[in-house]
Amino acid sequence: MDELRYPHLFEPIRVGRTIFKNRIFASPNGCQYQNYGGVPSEEGIAFYERKAMGGFAAVTLGECIVDSRTGQAHSYQLLLDNPLGLPPMSAMANAISRHGAVASVQLQHCGMFSHLVYERGGQLLGPVDTAIPDIHFTNNDGHEVAASPDGLRHVRGMTEEEIEDLIRSFGKAAAFVKQCGYGMVQIHAGHGWGLAQFISKNVNTRKDKWGGPDLENRMRLTLAVIDRVRKAVGPGFPIEVRISGAECIDTGYDIDEGIAIAKMLDGKADIIHVSAGHHESQYATTITHPGMFQEDGCNVKYAAEIKKHVKAPVATVGALVEPAFMEEIIASGQADIVNLGRQSLADQDLPLKARMGREDDIDYCMRCCACFSNSTRTRRRACAINPVTGHELEERSGFWTSHKKKVLIAGGGIAGMEAALTAARRGHDVILCEASNELGGVLKCEKLVPFKKRLDEYLKRQARRVKEAGVEIRMNTPVTEELAKEIAPDAIIAALGSTPVKPTIPGIDGSNVFGAEYVYTHPECTGENVVILGAGLVGIELGIFLAGEGRKITLIEMLPVMNDGGNMVHMNNLLLQIEEKKIEVKLSTRAVEIRENGVMTEGEKGEIFFPADTVIYAVGQRSRSDEAIALGKYAPEFHMVGDCIAARNILSATSEAYNAARDIGRIG
Ligand SMILES: Cc1cc2nc3c(=O)[nH]c(=O)nc-3n(C[C@H](O)[C@H](O)[C@H](O)COP(=O)(O)O)c2cc1C
Repeated sequence: MDELRYPHLFEPIRVGRTIFKNRIFASPNGCQYQNYGGVPSEEGIAFYERKAMGGFAAVTLGECIVDSRTGQAHSYQLLLDNPLGLPPMSAMANAISRHGAVASVQLQHCGMFSHLVYERGGQLLGPVDTAIPDIHFTNNDGHEVAASPDGLRHVRGMTEEEIEDLIRSFGKAAAFVKQCGYGMVQIHAGHGWGLAQFISKNVNTRKDKWGGPDLENRMRLTLAVIDRVRKAVGPGFPIEVRISGAECIDTGYDIDEGIAIAKMLDGKADIIHVSAGHHESQYATTITHPGMFQEDGCNVKYAAEIKKHVKAPVATVGALVEPAFMEEIIASGQADIVNLGRQSLADQDLPLKARMGREDDIDYCMRCCACFSNSTRTRRRACAINPVTGHELEERSGFWTSHKKKVLIAGGGIAGMEAALTAARRGHDVILCEASNELGGVLKCEKLVPFKKRLDEYLKRQARRVKEAGVEIRMNTPVTEELAKEIAPDAIIAALGSTPVKPTIPGIDGSNVFGAEYVYTHPECTGENVVILGAGLVGIELGIFLAGEGRKITLIEMLPVMNDGGNMVHMNNLLLQIEEKKIEVKLSTRAVEIRENGVMTEGEKGEIFFPADTVIYAVGQRSRSDEAIALGKYAPEFHMVGDCIAARNILSATSEAYNAARDIGRIG
């Protein structure tokens, strides 16, 4: 190798007495897989270790609570005040740092959003007496929580003594973290959590030295915390401080105040980590975690602005996926460090692959937010396109030893390709049969959709990988029972997918009516005024796509709610798009007849006619389960994966395919 491909990205950076081997840090992704008492489990350790193995220079554990008595939001946060955490926290630090990454811990107090404290009957504490809406009718464990009598959760302003206590708890936590062997701490002062509440002018209207209109007073707590942490960890130990460069809510602070905040941190914080947004606002949370509708690196501007005013290294975060783009950020001086959140779930090996020039093998995060939704629902980590994420311990488990088998995969969609790839990588002889003339399955129809660019890239990457892995690919070849008999495989994986449901409504066969899949590839077939039947993900996303092409869209849904397919975080982004693109949504409304000039519906308000020149149906998919089941008798080992079990999502398809392929050949 003559020279590094990304010289700025891979230039080590010295912070305090620590050398970080490159500029790519793994941004906190919460914690998960705790054992009782908020200490990491083996799975949690493997999750973070895997990132370190992939070449990240620093790996930060998210949401580690400094005082569980007053500052815990939910049961799945690591608790730094549990002395029993010492052995597993030390094991975690060791697992990360033995791969050359700096292990770091995010020190967090949730302030007035310490929901678990409230749910256990405790008092919520914040900068001032206030109340927050009681919208949490189930707690984070999914258990019902009694609603408060007035629909509010009451917060009490902290006393001086409680503030001093809080400062002490940050110090104690930092000392504990250092004792465990971590090489850095990250103080969380952003996203609307505890310290951020003190910084925020509209929240912190205290009349004493800890708050009020004067930023110096509102910053006093964060600066005192840094001082206390410094005392605890000593000189030279890197202290990173995470802030929102701007809160991006009506009542929050803007970038000008973000700059002022950063200037006050300069000289005290070793790294100023500039995120953006606020977790309590539907809009601002999509700034913190940009969705597929935002540009790559859409938050770099906050870091770049702050960097002009401070001497400390500045880190940026948000929607960063491509190494060349990261290189440009560092080279152009917009930031000194890049942090990858979801990209570190989509491909833990990004730094290594970038260094090795293997960019075309990087799995780029699609920002589908399945990771986030899954973690909110199940408290487990997952990634739609990376079946290893959340299963790192199993990845290295020796349990699935394999005997070489002849494996027939029926169907070359997302599930079929993942199954073929995993089986081939495990040394099996794999034949992949696809009925059409292209791999990719039903979702390849979305290739014209700008916000699905990364999905299209993923499908192409998988198709290439399948070929390179030595899979025998037979295109235009449906797996009939005769073919299955003729091939006589040891194992069959049926990945036949699903077909669109065509509703039986009078007029459905009219020349103005199309299925969603067709319209995705032929958007020009629609007129100006479009009615889409079905407000599930397919219908909504198609509506957003067509609205972007200048069509007026009405979504008609029989049910009283839109169907987010289990991805409520992505739904947040969709709702904002629906609003921005002025898409009309009619719920509890059933189409009863399609006419040449529109759709007649029945709803709570009786019959309503929606004029339209084009009508599209997106009312769901029917799984090809019968055809899949019929293949079962042609091989001793048989699995069904993906939509042919039931039409669902990419995450189900990839994880089922990966696991089925790993199960094959355990018995010789
Ligand atoms: C599943 C998940 C968990 C997260 N947990 C934390 C956390 O514990 N603390 C935190 O400050 N940010 C957390 N974040 C935010 C990320 O660190 C990051 O700032 C954000 O996802 C934007 O970066 P990205 O576009 O690279 O994902 C989390 C994000 C995701 C997707």
